[in-house]
Amino acid sequence: MNDYVFGVEWLDKNFSDLLKLKPLILIAGCPGSGKTVLACTISYANALRGHKVLYITFHESKEKLFKIMSGLGMSLSDVEVRGTFKFVRIPLPLTIESLNETISKLISGYSPEVVVFDTINPILTITKDESVKRALLQNFFYELSESINGMTILVAESDGEDINLSNVEFIADAIFILKQKVSKGLVSRSLMIKKVRGVDISIAEIPFRICGNLGLVLYPPPILEEVSTEYGELGLPCEVLRKVIGHIHKSMPIYITYPPDARPPHAAVIPLSIALLNNLKVLFVSYIYPPDILKSQLIRALSLTGLKSEEIKELIDKYVVVKSINPTAYSLDELYMRELRLVESIKGLGVVVFHDVGLVAGLSNADNYLLNLIYNQLNYLRLKGLLTIRLGSYVSDELYRLNSLLSSMVLRFEPVFKDGRFVGVQAYVWRRGTTPYIITSEELSRCFEEIAVNIRRRCLSR
Ligand SMILES: Nc1ncnc2c1ncn2[C@@H]1O[C@H](COP(=O)(O)OP(=O)(O)OP(=O)(O)O)[C@@H](O)[C@H]1O
Ligand SMILES: [Mg+2]
Repeated sequence: MNDYVFGVEWLDKNFSDLLKLKPLILIAGCPGSGKTVLACTISYANALRGHKVLYITFHESKEKLFKIMSGLGMSLSDVEVRGTFKFVRIPLPLTIESLNETISKLISGYSPEVVVFDTINPILTITKDESVKRALLQNFFYELSESINGMTILVAESDGEDINLSNVEFIADAIFILKQKVSKGLVSRSLMIKKVRGVDISIAEIPFRICGNLGLVLYPPPILEEVSTEYGELGLPCEVLRKVIGHIHKSMPIYITYPPDARPPHAAVIPLSIALLNNLKVLFVSYIYPPDILKSQLIRALSLTGLKSEEIKELIDKYVVVKSINPTAYSLDELYMRELRLVESIKGLGVVVFHDVGLVAGLSNADNYLLNLIYNQLNYLRLKGLLTIRLGSYVSDELYRLNSLLSSMVLRFEPVFKDGRFVGVQAYVWRRGTTPYIITSEELSRCFEEIAVNIRRRCLSR
């Protein structure tokens, strides 16, 4: 195992060639942005593979660092015991010569393949003379990195003006800038890839989270070419849908909408029955109801088919997971990541339903939300082989059109009135590659009856 790694999946997938160059990697960012976590993640991953890592710091406490990393699922003490990780805290050097001497001793004594400096800022205070500083940075770190067989990682705190990184940037083979912003009192983080020698970078900034037990998790936008086009076929739950739609694929996002002032429970029957009859576990994420209210709404919806309440209870327990997220508590980026994390945390999922998507769209700038985040999210979920159903109120023509644009199938429910009286619900339906059709309220009733029969036959134990 001679190959060096980042230990962060997406970085390894895209930049593994860089690691063959004995690179000098600069990780910069403001305090708390995750620099140490990233540097330690790389260190840990290489130490695990048997590469000797020397971690040099002037200010980190070993105990705290080991504790934080252990909370992120990385046991530095394990690799320390194995002899592939060495933490050294050195006193602040008074001169460049003394620094040189200390580092040389450490390197010849341990022969590391990966060397980390967390952070280099104190070194820069040795001298105020800019030209000496430049020479120091360029010569010292350049020479050091040349003498190291694996990689050299420099961590720099670069908040505001106190450090001029341009000298280091010049000699670095890769530059990762960690950013963090706070919105609505919550932190959202991103990794900016400023430079990677020899790689044509097309994605410049990637949101990430630091998660307990998992460490650093990146959420890169999916590359369309890598998103498989058609996953398995899914059956439709009743005759009229089969007649007008034929079949659907898991890779086809569905948009289901209804008037915000007449939200028929019928709309929820379709996602539920698609999931149940295809034997798929379904996650409902509600932005508008707490879990117990959402659950009772789903029960009400299924009871429209004529299923009995104990039958419905059995189905819900077996197939449905309900979660609620208050979208106003998150920035859109945070919300996006939270949802993906939620989806990833539930095993064996086949369908994800977001409800009420009209609310989130109304809260945000539609252009950014739908055309950037949702577009990426739909592709991401498709990449995971999940059917995504976006269920929500008809808020405006513009949002309806954008949501439809992002979907391969649209169902628009409308109440039907006769002589001023409510007589039922009809649905406009369209699927990619077919002509639109209006399912009448009679057809919908028959569809629901058929759903009950099929569910009894295929999903219930009695
Ligand atoms: N177990 C954990 N779960 C979630 N987040 C965590 C966990 N442990 C640490 N973090 C997050 O990681 C962040 C710390 O990152 P890190 O220490 O790498 O930042 P830094 O850029 O090195 O900061 P500094 O400039 O202070 O050295 C914390 O702000 C905290 O939010
Ligand atoms: Mg740090």
